Amino acid sequence: MWIDLFLPKICASWVFIIDFSTFLNKFFHVRPKEQSVEWYTSIGNAAAIKKAWMGGDCQVTALLRLEGIEKSFPGVQALKSCKLELLPGEVHALVGENGAGKSTLMKIATGVYSKDAGRIVYKGKEIELPNARAARDYGISMIHQELNLLPHLTIAQNMYLGREPKKLGFLVDDQELNRRAGKQLEEMNLKLDPKTLVSELSVAKQQMVEIAKALSFRSEVLIMDEPTAALTDAEIRDLFRIMAQLKRQGVGIIYISHRMEELRQISDRITVMRDGAYVDTVETKQVGTDQIIRMMVGRELSRTPGLAPVDPEAETVLEVKGLSRGKELQDIHFQLKKGEILGFAGLMGAGRTEVARAIFGADPVDRGEIIVHGKNASIKHPHDAVRAGIGYLSEDRKSFGVLVDMDVASNIAMASYHRYRNPIGFMKESRINQTAAHYVKSLSIKTPGIGQKVKFLSGGNQQKVVIGKWLNRDCDVLIFDEPTRGIDVGAKNEIYKLLENLAAEGKAIMMISSELPEILRMSHRVIVMCEGRITGELAAEEATQEEIMKYATMRSNMM
Ligand SMILES: Nc1ncnc2c1ncn2[C@@H]1O[C@H](COP(=O)(O)OP(=O)(O)OP(=O)(O)O)[C@@H](O)[C@H]1O
Ligand SMILES: [Mg+2]
Repeated sequence: MWIDLFLPKICASWVFIIDFSTFLNKFFHVRPKEQSVEWYTSIGNAAAIKKAWMGGDCQVTALLRLEGIEKSFPGVQALKSCKLELLPGEVHALVGENGAGKSTLMKIATGVYSKDAGRIVYKGKEIELPNARAARDYGISMIHQELNLLPHLTIAQNMYLGREPKKLGFLVDDQELNRRAGKQLEEMNLKLDPKTLVSELSVAKQQMVEIAKALSFRSEVLIMDEPTAALTDAEIRDLFRIMAQLKRQGVGIIYISHRMEELRQISDRITVMRDGAYVDTVETKQVGTDQIIRMMVGRELSRTPGLAPVDPEAETVLEVKGLSRGKELQDIHFQLKKGEILGFAGLMGAGRTEVARAIFGADPVDRGEIIVHGKNASIKHPHDAVRAGIGYLSEDRKSFGVLVDMDVASNIAMASYHRYRNPIGFMKESRINQTAAHYVKSLSIKTPGIGQKVKFLSGGNQQKVVIGKWLNRDCDVLIFDEPTRGIDVGAKNEIYKLLENLAAEGKAIMMISSELPEILRMSHRVIVMCEGRITGELAAEEATQEEIMKYATMRSNMM
């Protein structure tokens, strides 16, 4: 009776298991060209299946495989026999120091650059990518490290540029355009009107629009080159939620970031590059952060000695009194001493950059005083600020920091041209070159020479050029706005050392940072802002992440 009832069922389930596994075997061993990505995901994550069923030895067809990629630019071999494999439903992190070749490799995978040698294999077939459009047509798209939106167009126009929906065959259907863009923004939880001009958006919002644009192509391979560099924590959470959703749909994501915690949280595997060469690919769960960093930099990182204490008798170099502009800046007061690093913490949009820009004369204020060395420095324009001895390393290096079409030497000399002019007005080229060579060496700027145009340097190295420019100007007050954004772990350490040295030399430093560990490590004192106001001030000893967050979220309706 028992056997009568259950035996057929047991047999049936065995048949099912045998059938299913032969099916899987068939699937994995006979190349599944005809299988859709949905199939992979209907049974789970491809990388997991690869491991569980086949002991890591199966023939899951990679979505994208780059093999033996080489690329040289004049004077630089950017890539030496690089490889990378992306599986469906995988988040694959790509890491390496500034200038390691990450962006270049990805630009080759998206048809932006041509390769000198190597193969690009998409879903098992070798393909050629003569341009970015060809890559997009295959379903490979990329969110670039530099923002590429056109400021005078709306969000929707930017998202669908060159592929606008048409009515009557030739007229742009604005209504449909805005509807599509609106839907994409909504999917991302973005409360933005698609008709807003991009020029009216903050850097963070522009970054989210770039992401929305890339997603709107519905690509199966999505490459993200430092997408979170300018995002708030909430925006990062939204992005990760979207990534998890895409992963479930079988999209493969290549994710470039210098933020180690993020990589651990989001990636399945990590490929490490160093000096243009492939180092290794590892499973994220199997390695510790220290191990990844060692693979990236190829050496142990030395710890910095730490901040020297500020002399309590030291001169107050900068004093800001009652700086106000509408709701953005409300009655900002603070003092900054010689040799002190004053950290500015707060959530994105708290008004920290607005304070910096107001002090630097980049934006007007309604009222307030800026006192440098005890004298009222009437600052109406950045020229006035520079003359008063204030330097500003902006968070948005493209609009304020570097002239990307000029070379490294000119950029470094830019804020100090008066020093390089001889009495008849000619430039002392050799002095400029000497100085530039000095900063290239001391900041380890990776460039084939001081004559290289800045636009050809990697993102992190462009940031170092901005730092070189202001160090060269020899200002008494230096404002660093997100100084290590997009900077790799090794160079970050160098920049911390540099800040410590500058403070020890007697510079007064205001440092805005969204990374709390950076604020805690690098500040003598911390000012916290929220909604355009200073909500708290903490001495280094009392500053903790919790304390800072308490003040950073102290909205006016709660006070
Ligand atoms: N168009 C170009 N012309 C000349 N050199 C270039 C060009 N693009 C990149 N390079 C050089 O190739 C090397 C690799 O740069 P790449 O931008 O790929 O680095 P990266 O790993 O993305 O660095 P980062 O983390 O700073 O963004 C660098 O030395 C860079 O200066
Ligand atoms: Mg890059």
